[in-house]
Amino acid sequence: MTVDEIYAPIAGNLAALERQLQEVLHSDNPGIRDVNAYLLASSGKRVRPALFLLACSLWRNDPGFSLPVALAIEMIHTATLIHDDVVDDSALRRGRPSLNAIFGNHTAVLSGDYLFAQAFSLLTGFGSLPIIRELAQVVKEMSEGEIIQQTERFNPFLTEETYFKLIKKKTACFFAACGACGGIAAGAAADQVQVLKNYGNYIGMAFQVIDDMIDFYADEERAGKPCLADLKSGVFTLPLIHLLNTSPDASEFRNRLAGGEINDRLVSDIRAGMESCGSLAYAGKIAEQYVKKAVSLALALPAGQPRDHLVRFGRFILERNC
Ligand code: IPE
Ligand code: IPE
Ligand code: MG
Ligand code: MG
Repeated sequence: MTVDEIYAPIAGNLAALERQLQEVLHSDNPGIRDVNAYLLASSGKRVRPALFLLACSLWRNDPGFSLPVALAIEMIHTATLIHDDVVDDSALRRGRPSLNAIFGNHTAVLSGDYLFAQAFSLLTGFGSLPIIRELAQVVKEMSEGEIIQQTERFNPFLTEETYFKLIKKKTACFFAACGACGGIAAGAAADQVQVLKNYGNYIGMAFQVIDDMIDFYADEERAGKPCLADLKSGVFTLPLIHLLNTSPDASEFRNRLAGGEINDRLVSDIRAGMESCGSLAYAGKIAEQYVKKAVSLALALPAGQPRDHLVRFGRFILERNC
């Protein structure tokens, strides 16, 4: 199933989201206008607003009333990507030079802040305190996740436990909140909101594991962002942790990694080691297990087309390569 087919029940809402993004990000200030125009010229997969809208449509035929929340979700996501590219010193995003690469770090940081503020202003307009609480918590968790990632850079003894804790904070919490907010907006019962939250958490864990695998595939054109960037910048992810836990050459790899200079020779040795240890296959299995857990939870939600699409959403997350 293609992403368009998965988004089919909410296609009209997603089209409206694109139009409203253009409107909300319009500014008379020339500096802000240039930045926003640049942001709007390339678009992402919209997985978080799609998850929110699909969750909402489990109970509401037309989730269009909740578009301000979908909009705020995509704006919060965009703000975190802008800041992430500053801290990762990343020059490519969504197939084009990143905002920091074009406008510099100062403008990128301020633009991210501006988007956060606009997003929360939209949320106050929508007026659901529980939704504001969920999404404020997301920003806090993500910031913590990124801070942990900073402190763990180049740590060759990074454990799986810390890795999973980190990706839960930096990615899965957001997906969990998208599911939960969909239920809250639709007026679902608390236990159903919790199911959606757990579903989103597992989907988000799988999403980040797959993202970390994509970094090793090294197909920048397809990914639209730099590959091998995590490894080279000392962000050690699940496939590498697996290599360090299983390779007979682990201590040599650890010594070389701890040196902080990750040259092409080391990268190619690591990729060969990962191949013989089956490290990418291992990470793929873990992602699959998360999706399986998400899907089994989804079966506790109201039956119908939106639920079927939430189930397929899991498969799409596993098969994505960008
Ligand atoms: C990128 O998210 C950040 C991660 C959590 C891995 P997406 O892959 O959803 O980014 P876009 O919005 O499609 O560009
Ligand atoms: C996810 O981590 C970033 C956020 C949650 C903002 P990554 O650093 O892996 O994201 P990409 O690969 O740059 O999109
Ligand atoms: Mg990054
Ligand atoms: Mg990544």
